[in-house]
Amino acid sequence: MRFVDIIEKKRDGNELTTEEIQFFISEYTAEKIPDYQVSALLMAIYFQDMTDRERADLTMAMVNSGDKIDLSAIEGIKVDKHSTGGVGDTTTLVLGPLVAAVGVPVAKMSGRGLGHTGGTIDKLEALEGFHVELSVEDFIQQVNELKLAVIGQSGNLTPADKKLYALRDVTATVNSIPLIASSIMSKKIAAGADAIVLDVKTGEGAFMKTVEDARELAKAMVQIGNSVGRKTMAIISDMSQPLGYAIGNALEVKEAVETLQGKGPADLTELCLVLGSQMVVLGGKAGTLEEARSMLQEVIDNGKALEIFKLFVKAQGGDETSIDDLEKLPQASYKHHVKARKSGYISFIEADEIGTAAMLLGAGRATKESEIDLAVGILLNKKVGDRVQEGDVLATIFANNSDVAEVSDRILEFMEISDNKPTVPQLIEEIITA
Ligand code: URA
Ligand code: CA
Repeated sequence: MRFVDIIEKKRDGNELTTEEIQFFISEYTAEKIPDYQVSALLMAIYFQDMTDRERADLTMAMVNSGDKIDLSAIEGIKVDKHSTGGVGDTTTLVLGPLVAAVGVPVAKMSGRGLGHTGGTIDKLEALEGFHVELSVEDFIQQVNELKLAVIGQSGNLTPADKKLYALRDVTATVNSIPLIASSIMSKKIAAGADAIVLDVKTGEGAFMKTVEDARELAKAMVQIGNSVGRKTMAIISDMSQPLGYAIGNALEVKEAVETLQGKGPADLTELCLVLGSQMVVLGGKAGTLEEARSMLQEVIDNGKALEIFKLFVKAQGGDETSIDDLEKLPQASYKHHVKARKSGYISFIEADEIGTAAMLLGAGRATKESEIDLAVGILLNKKVGDRVQEGDVLATIFANNSDVAEVSDRILEFMEISDNKPTVPQLIEEIITA
């Protein structure tokens, strides 16, 4: 097989065979094909797209390019959740204990975040002592006992995706549905998921800015998952404004605890119940979404979900007493209220700009080497549609530096106030199943 023939075939809009796709991925992983040839193929895929079969083949070729996590020693159907990323998205912290409390095993492999705030692991590290360096045996044992464990990324998972993602980044080929869908799905499948629930975000704070683009990506991933034997469904949810009120690591842990106590923000709570219901049905613990939802509501109301969260934190070395006493979480030295300069309605809170403001405070990493400050962040006091009077607090800045003028200006600029009541964006745009 000659790689130039594969490039030519795709350039001309023809379908690649399974063998050609496997050859491409295995030879590229082994560094036997130069980046310039792969760049040409990526650009051909960008313009010519891939068929459903090609997308599934590409995904599985990437899964098979490295290690695969074997979770077969865990009883039950392992359902993983993936979010395409957003601002202040606290759902994983809530969903883990929530679905574990109704018996769905959550064996989560998580990473550190790059961007506005930390990833799930960074957030959990706001609980002093918490660590994710578990052996695979301890990880599996903990999931069997508590139904919930989080382990750091280990091993050589989907090396083909790592190489391709880096190359796409510098060849203007990131934004391609077959390439994004196969990249995300390969990582979930390699991490051992039997079933996958996808939360595809749309709006200013998301990768996919329009509902149409989000729908196309969601459909592509659902198609791939189901065609390779992983039950997969997706929801499309709004990320035009941040989710919940908290953006920042310790602040989001507090918000997650409050949500598990049944007194969290309405949007975060609703999204967790919708995603959680899907996970419970895919995990075989309920026959219908309605039944699943009432099971989840019950473990919030009776405190079992919060209890699982405490046991999980304790099992991984964290200070579980700070869950009852949230003042023990890392606290920022300065609190600054950002106040409305006029009266009206909040018409828009531009999620990515507010996320960037949180990153400027130190809540997230601009580069892999940046240090994260777990205490800092932004707590919104208003959401889109709320009425405000001049002088009302719009948001509180939690900082470890007294100079917050830049962050404060940014919040004022990107929390727009209008005279007319705006239409509030719908939280769940669509649910996509096979
Ligand atoms: N996230 C991924 O993991 N892969 C992509 O290609 C895009 C976003
Ligand atoms: Ca939040």
